[in-house]
Amino acid sequence: MQALILAGGKGTRLRPLTVYTPKPIVPVLNKPFLLYQIEILRRAGIKDITLSLSYQPDKIEHLLGDGSDYGVKLRFVTEPSPMGTGGAYKFAADAIRETTIVFNGDIITDLDISKVIELHKEKKAEATLTLVPVENPAAYGLVETDSDGAILRFREKPKPEDIDALTTNNINAGIYILEPTILDLIPKGENCSFEYNVFPDILTNKKPFYAYVIENNYWRDIGTPASYLEVHRDFLDGKIKGFEIEKSSNADIATAAIVDKTSIVGSDCVIKPNARIINSILGTGVHVEERAVIENSVVWAHTRVSNSTEVRGAVIGRSCYLGKNVSVSNGTVLGDKTSLTDYTKV
Ligand code: GDD
Ligand code: MG
Repeated sequence: MQALILAGGKGTRLRPLTVYTPKPIVPVLNKPFLLYQIEILRRAGIKDITLSLSYQPDKIEHLLGDGSDYGVKLRFVTEPSPMGTGGAYKFAADAIRETTIVFNGDIITDLDISKVIELHKEKKAEATLTLVPVENPAAYGLVETDSDGAILRFREKPKPEDIDALTTNNINAGIYILEPTILDLIPKGENCSFEYNVFPDILTNKKPFYAYVIENNYWRDIGTPASYLEVHRDFLDGKIKGFEIEKSSNADIATAAIVDKTSIVGSDCVIKPNARIINSILGTGVHVEERAVIENSVVWAHTRVSNSTEVRGAVIGRSCYLGKNVSVSNGTVLGDKTSLTDYTKV
């Protein structure tokens, strides 16, 4: 079994964070996001992984290399322009010779995906989708099944007026197992969507199409600033199991500073006296000066937070400069290299 990770989207909803960093490698707990996906696959014994890229492909390729640092073999396939999710799968057809597990490049789960593979084999399916129940399905692909788990209907981003009539809140979790026969349903060289085209076509063609429903495991799409911040909180709260969390040992933290137990301070950070870091993650080389407070926030590498500045519930990009007595409030997202003058409130 091999894997294909769809990692070519522009990450528009995560802007400005994705202006210089493509969504698949935004740091989560100071680790590029794709490394979590690679780990999930490696745990299930899948080491042959193709990355389907389009937006800023060189940055991703350069960071991950051939995968040997992570115990897998990575291949990269880059579309000249985005072909859509199904089009990207077809574009990678030369690299696909067998049953393939396809991942949306922005979802994280602690599910053991070998269970999905087992179900796919047991049902002799040509396609198996992983589903997860969510409170508000409107932002996702809604999937209706029969009592045996066979997929009956796939509706991408259902309209609010349709939602009331729905019989399920199970959505497409963005993890598929596909037989190479599915490639035959996708036209070559054209833009094509799994969600709007290929899945409905599988139904029309009456191919064996099944669902595995995630019940007691964590799942999240990290594609918006709110959910990006939320995944950090969930890690700090211990809601996501089985991933190793790296804590740095060489940060320079003043004895009169407070860093609470849940926070993660990256290597080469400097935390000055009376600064407070609460339930937050700081990337490499962040400087936090006297009396500054960082709470429930994520701060990317090499940012400087000056005296008495307070950051709460925010994401701050790389190499930002926050002057003195600045106040950054809940829900703020600052792009890389933002500079805020003393006393600014955002
Ligand atoms: N290579 C390539 N080319 N990748 C693409 C392209 C493309 O043209 N377009 C999107 N992708 C990648 C994105 O990078 C992302 O990893 C994945 O495909 C899904 O795209 P999103 O833009 O994040 O879709 P979504 O979150 O609105 O909806 C999708 O995910 C939901 C679960 O999180 C759908 O699959 C929904 O049905 C699903 O519920
Ligand atoms: Mg998404």
